Amino acid sequence: MKAAVVTATGQVEIQDMAEPAIKDDEVLIKVKTVGVCGSDLHLFQGTHAFRKPPAVLGHEVAGDIVRVGSAVTRFKVGDRVTVEPHRGCGECAFCKQNLVNLCLNKSAPGTPGWIGTFVEYFNAPESALYAIEDAVSYEEGTLIEPLAVAVHALSRATVKERESIVILGVGTIGMLSLVVAREMGFKTIICTDTAPFNREAALKHGAAAALDPLTEDVVARVKEMTGGRGADLVLVCAGAEGILSQASECARRRGEIGLVAMITKKIPFYCYGMVFNEQTMYGAMTYETRDFAKAAEMVNSGLDLSGFVTQKLPLARTQEALDILSQKKEGVIKVIVTV
Ligand SMILES: NC(=O)c1ccc[n+]([C@@H]2O[C@H](COP(=O)([O-])OP(=O)(O)OC[C@H]3O[C@@H](n4cnc5c(N)ncnc54)[C@H](O)[C@@H]3O)[C@@H](O)[C@H]2O)c1
Ligand SMILES: [Zn+2]
Ligand SMILES: [Zn+2]
Repeated sequence: MKAAVVTATGQVEIQDMAEPAIKDDEVLIKVKTVGVCGSDLHLFQGTHAFRKPPAVLGHEVAGDIVRVGSAVTRFKVGDRVTVEPHRGCGECAFCKQNLVNLCLNKSAPGTPGWIGTFVEYFNAPESALYAIEDAVSYEEGTLIEPLAVAVHALSRATVKERESIVILGVGTIGMLSLVVAREMGFKTIICTDTAPFNREAALKHGAAAALDPLTEDVVARVKEMTGGRGADLVLVCAGAEGILSQASECARRRGEIGLVAMITKKIPFYCYGMVFNEQTMYGAMTYETRDFAKAAEMVNSGLDLSGFVTQKLPLARTQEALDILSQKKEGVIKVIVTV
């Protein structure tokens, strides 16, 4: 079968390789669509924490089951599915609390024990499968994974009030967080993004305002739109030099700040306001299984995410798909690769 492999930093090739074998509790999926994610760029650029070249790209996927292991009971050949792409060790303290995302020994696609999803055939355990309804396209099925990131990011918040939320950065994750915030009943949703395309899309999908942090006083606008109080919740979905201080300034007293962006370099943070205003900051790492289940349920019950697929390219053009996301040469929210 064909697979898109990062052979060395900055180099991707379409290679022939053997189809993965399946264990008794696994299925083999004929891949239809895969999503290009920021973490694929990290693998490609050699900056990913645990995915290292040579490795097959991808962890977002939708397709059809073509083979089932002998112990599989809930799914059959022909079923349309997506996959929750991580597996816990089952033994550690975090796995015991159903926190697979925090497992000390988790496996994920694109690591030595599990192939990436940019392939013609992908194996996955039955426990990680979610059915995709017939009315839902494979593309939207693929978006269940990043939607689960957004569900988790919002579920980690403990603020009860849903008057206002600020989302700093509306790329894929911020935009899907906007959708989840809307579904959760946040009344005023204020977004920021440096890209006009993303700001326009945010307005189209329910944001009350979409601000340009380069030309507008974001904090002043947020205060103005929240009766001078600041927002109940601020989600950081972009990495930029002053973004943590900005998040704190946008949040109200006793407000919360959720960190979703993977900011790998040290950035300054003026933390006095956090103390003075008794704010809480939390991190959100991928998703718990219940978040993934919630995201699948949202999409299967009719949440329309089709507008977020901005580019579709075949597997042979994987390099171009990576370039579109990394260089943002054209308006981009989600790039899908079709297999
Ligand atoms: N915590 C997790 O589990 C998890 C999962 C997926 C992605 N991430 C991280 O979340 C972040 C966002 O991911 P993504 O896939 O949406 O990336 P993305 O590149 O699609 O989105 C980032 C957006 O931020 C905008 N931006 C840049 N500078 C900005 C600024 N100063 N203020 C506001 N917006 C700005 C960009 O124009 C872009 O639209 C990344 O850091 C990614 O690594 C985290
Ligand atoms: Zn992803
Ligand atoms: Zn574990």
